[in-house]
Amino acid sequence: MDQTLKEGQIEERKKRIFSGVQPSGNLTIGNYLGAIRNWTFLQDAYDCIYCVVNEHAITVRQNPADLRRQTYETLAVYIAAGLDVSKNVLFIQSHVPAHAELAWVLNCYTMFGELSRMTQFKDKSAKHSDNINAGLFDYPVLMAADILLYQADLVPVGIDQKQHVELCRDIAVRFNQIYPDTFTIPEPYLSKTGKKIMSLQDPARKMSKSDENENATVRILDSKDTILRKFKRAVTDSGSGIVYSEDKPGISNLMSIYSAFTGKDYPEIEAEFAGSGYGDFKMAVGETCADALAPVRQRFDELMKDKGYLESVAKQGAETASRIASRTLSKVYRKVGFVTF
Ligand code: TRP
Repeated sequence: MDQTLKEGQIEERKKRIFSGVQPSGNLTIGNYLGAIRNWTFLQDAYDCIYCVVNEHAITVRQNPADLRRQTYETLAVYIAAGLDVSKNVLFIQSHVPAHAELAWVLNCYTMFGELSRMTQFKDKSAKHSDNINAGLFDYPVLMAADILLYQADLVPVGIDQKQHVELCRDIAVRFNQIYPDTFTIPEPYLSKTGKKIMSLQDPARKMSKSDENENATVRILDSKDTILRKFKRAVTDSGSGIVYSEDKPGISNLMSIYSAFTGKDYPEIEAEFAGSGYGDFKMAVGETCADALAPVRQRFDELMKDKGYLESVAKQGAETASRIASRTLSKVYRKVGFVTF
């Protein structure tokens, strides 16, 4: 393609993407297939910014040493999964103070009632009833600040985060009505591939990195033996036959994992395993998953041995992110009437 611009032609701006993952717990194949791997498919067509959202992580209690380690691990997984550091801005949320600063302003344009309706808040406050802190309640406002600071057009998220992106839109629209042309109104970008991955022990629940049951989740960094063992123990359904259907949530979940790794659709998978038993199918999914993750894990191990490199990526990412974020924050400060020099 001819890259030179003809006279009078305006360079088309690539759409901007922003997303983030919390460094709480160990990343699962749900995070990989549902989010991070999909991001690698976007890196050429979009202007992409990905954050490790450690400020969100402390809305539930974290062990400081674990949080520090997991923050680097999350960054390393981004890179190991194939995000090119020269094409994507990768950074750690707490390195860019503008996130917390914009969140404060947006707090004053977000209603108590709106936040009370967030289903994740209701779920998490039931789960952590001993620690329903203001940060947990305010979590979606910080997330809105993350997105709006970068004037993101699209926000790739799982279905469980769609409500938060919609709230972010509502806040941005409200703010723009009072102070025109402040924020780009973002849209959730739900991936078509990579269905929601469910727990291997309870296919009615989402695979969660904080699940206490070891066998429920497959981690990106599990060894091959561990992966095979977990798939072997995966809960299946009554009856037999590898068929995708609503009354076979266990097998259907395994099929969607297999499909995500191989690119095969359900009829193809049903044909491939016609006449096979559950046991054989579980082993095949385990093998496929372990083989697909092996290079990610290898690259991850190399990266974790090179803290200096990870630090340099985080530092450079924070510089680029800060430049963009401070432009938006200054604009917001001016609009609301904060005195500036
Ligand atoms: N809340 C998101 C999650 O738990 C993580 C997140 C924080 C995020 N800030 C974001 C995702 C901004 C997209 C955009 O999955």
